[in-house]
Formats: sequence, C-alpha cells, structure tokens
Amino acid sequence: SEVHYYPTIDSTQNKCQELAKAGAPEGTLVVADQQVGGKGRLGRVWHSPPGTNISMSLLLRPTLELQKCPQITLLAAVAIVETLRDFCAIDAQIKWPNDILIDGKKVCGILTELNAESDRIHYLIIGMGLNVNTTAEQFPEDVREVATSLYIAKGEPLRRVPIIQQILYRLEKLYDVYLEDGFAPVKERWERCAITIGKKVTIRTLQGSFTGYAEGIDDSGVLLVRREDGSITKVYSADVEI
Ligand code: BTN
Repeated sequence: SEVHYYPTIDSTQNKCQELAKAGAPEGTLVVADQQVGGKGRLGRVWHSPPGTNISMSLLLRPTLELQKCPQITLLAAVAIVETLRDFCAIDAQIKWPNDILIDGKKVCGILTELNAESDRIHYLIIGMGLNVNTTAEQFPEDVREVATSLYIAKGEPLRRVPIIQQILYRLEKLYDVYLEDGFAPVKERWERCAITIGKKVTIRTLQGSFTGYAEGIDDSGVLLVRREDGSITKVYSADVEI
C-alpha cells in the first residue's frame, strides 16, 4: 500500500482524512517530518518540530461494529510499546487510555479518528506521534516536565525509519491476530504493557476524584476500578494518577 511522505504538513491526520475520502485503500500511510498544525486528543495541540519526531497516520477500513473501534487504538499502543521494548531496548509503558510513557513521562500519543454512518465504519485513522530525537530544550516549556523522547531515554540519537517500519510491521501482525482471534489476545498484551493495571490509582474526573485498584480493562477499553467496598466502577474518561 501507499506511503505519502511530506517534509512539512499541517497534520498527517488531515491529509489521511482527505485520502480516505477520495477512496484510498486500507494501509495507506501519511508520514511527515514536521507538522505545523499537529492535533492531540481533546482538541489539544501536538508539537512536531522538524527532524526529531515520528508523525504518521494510518488508514484502516475494518468491518467492525462502531463500539469496537477503541480496541484498535489499544492495539496500536501495544505495537508501539513492544517496538520500544523489543527493538529499541527501552522500557516503556501504556498509561490508560493510550499515552505511552518512559520513566513516567509521555513519549508518544495516539489519536484515533473515525468516519462512520449508522454503525458502519467507512474508515478509521490512527495517528501516532512519537518523540524520537527531541532534546529537552526542544519541548515547549509547558510540557517540558512531563514529556520525554527516545533520545533523552537512551542518551543517543535513533534512526526514525527503522522504528517506523517496526511499528507498522508489528501493528499489521497484531491487526491480523485481532481480525482472526478477536480482542482477547490483544487485551492480554495490552494489560502486560500497561502501567495502570494492578496498581492503586487516583481517578480524577469533572465529577470529582476517588481512589481504587485498577483491575483491568473491559472489551471496549473502559478502565475497571475496584473500590474499597469491593464494587467495580467503570471509568470512561479521566485523568489517572498512579
Ligand atoms: C495525544 O493527544 O496524546 C495524541 C497525539 C497524536 C499526535 C499524532 S502525530 C501524527 C498525527 N497527526 C496529528 O495531527 N496528530 C497525530
């Protein structure tokens, strides 16, 4: 399938949307060296300066029920963490829902956008932003304390192309496992990569906060938290503190 590379682009996500709308096939990939309008989750800005990051968006066209879409984001997170662990020899973890951390700091974010109509998915775009050779000074001041890069973790620069290849190779293999055997094997690997699971956590939502024990996730990626009274609370969206 096709790879579209851009030295500079507003957002690989937008370009991938455009290609998807024009009928591009599953597996189409948009990669950019620099994004000037990178998008994060919840309307946030994603910083992608030239020469340092991996910014890419992958087009998928799964035949899935709409409510199963979050499973694909979890799948992508597993492919990235396993790449960092097994290919880059860097210990990374997933923080629910889909931030990837090294030493408690964010190294990668995933943004999934989808286009669907009455439960039929037209396409799904997985956007991945990985800080590879970013130095601490290159991060905007407001995220410097909470962001990291592979360079900062390893103390040496890494080549981006082999990392992109590994992520995509692993993602494709895991996607095949998923289409063949369903979510269970993905979920098991996700839980193995996750820092949140099996820990005491503080959950902060707009409604207030509480502490509990993170048991795992359910099939839609909802975080299951056991309270002191033994009851399970389903967490759909929150800031999680470990
Ligand atoms: C997050 O908020 O954690 C998600 C960040 C996702 C960033 C990636 S970079 C490639 C793709 N293009 C974008 O504009 N955003 C995603």
